[in-house]
Amino acid sequence: MTLLFTPIKIRDVEVRNRIWVSPMCMYSCEDQDGMPNDWHLVHLGARAIGGAGLVMAEATAVRPEGRITPWCTGIWNDEQMAAWKRVTAFIHAQGATSSIQLAHAGRKASTYRMQSGSGSVPISQGGWETISSTGEAFQGYAAPRELATDEVAQLALDFGTAARRAILAGFQSIEIHAAHGYLIHQFLSPLTNKRTDNYGGSLENRARLLLEIVSEVRAAVGSSIPVFVRFSATDYVEGGWDQQQTNQVASWCHEHGADLFDISSGGLVMGVKIPTGPGYQVPFAENLKTESHTQVGAVGQITSGKQAEEILQRGLVDVVLVGREFLRDPQFPLRAAHELGVDITWPVQYERGKFPTA
Ligand SMILES: Cc1cc2nc3c(=O)[nH]c(=O)nc-3n(C[C@H](O)[C@H](O)[C@H](O)COP(=O)(O)O)c2cc1C
Repeated sequence: MTLLFTPIKIRDVEVRNRIWVSPMCMYSCEDQDGMPNDWHLVHLGARAIGGAGLVMAEATAVRPEGRITPWCTGIWNDEQMAAWKRVTAFIHAQGATSSIQLAHAGRKASTYRMQSGSGSVPISQGGWETISSTGEAFQGYAAPRELATDEVAQLALDFGTAARRAILAGFQSIEIHAAHGYLIHQFLSPLTNKRTDNYGGSLENRARLLLEIVSEVRAAVGSSIPVFVRFSATDYVEGGWDQQQTNQVASWCHEHGADLFDISSGGLVMGVKIPTGPGYQVPFAENLKTESHTQVGAVGQITSGKQAEEILQRGLVDVVLVGREFLRDPQFPLRAAHELGVDITWPVQYERGKFPTA
């Protein structure tokens, strides 16, 4: 048996394999109301049919102003919660585990989706005032409003409420989005956090919001549900967020109830050179594992069963998350199993399409 197709148990949830669908924004709430719709059902459902172990829904806002674009999903009200139920039920019926990435975009909110424009959506056209750790704008975007201290404390409660709704919607695990230059990352990085209150300055203070969020989410979901955190391991800028701070804060998050760390990189500032290539972010995940001994996920240009298996065999990564390969091929896990000579159960409806065995 391969490691890729060996189930993994985290808390009370057993995931059937270690190929997970990385969260990917679909910018497809056409009514701009944060409601998941048929697109989300079919898109996420197809990847569950395709054999993914865990299917993670896109960055989903805990508050309306936390959406990256007006077309992003939300989970800040009961109607959205009810709409997500259909998605989770279908994912589970295919034998996959569901997850949702809870997010707040901070100063990178209220932007156009690719096909609708670029930069910030003006308030007159359905955009909104953004908020952040800082009053400084992300390059090319509208300047945010710097949050007052009591407003920061409220954010953790919002993540907790969203996590409670996510569980009622049927999600079996939660990911907190602390990467890619969105709100939590804005608080973590010294480049975007020059605050002088309890949420700025030392690493402990910059991590305070994330740790409060982890605690609130853990309290909301109880002890049986896995909680993941996605980090950018580096800003690729001298004096910015880096691997060492990631490792330290991940171990604090672990003490506060997070189980697995999903390791990405970049996104805080424009114009940095990111050395991309096959598996380019895997070393960041491996470094965290070496330092912290927590469970970790690797993501970034993982595109074949063989490559994914080799990463797992090195023993420093517990799962792989796959993004764009799943956009090319929703059946990626079924194909990867064939490539690795593993006989996995196919959806009965698709049995006749199963690769012939030699
Ligand atoms: C269309 C698209 C949307 C994305 N949306 C998100 C998102 O909602 N949350 C997130 O953490 N990363 C997001 N990402 C990043 C992916 O999850 C993944 O980390 C990245 O694409 C690298 O993995 P890959 O090389 O397998 O695609 C997105 C990527 C793509 C291509």
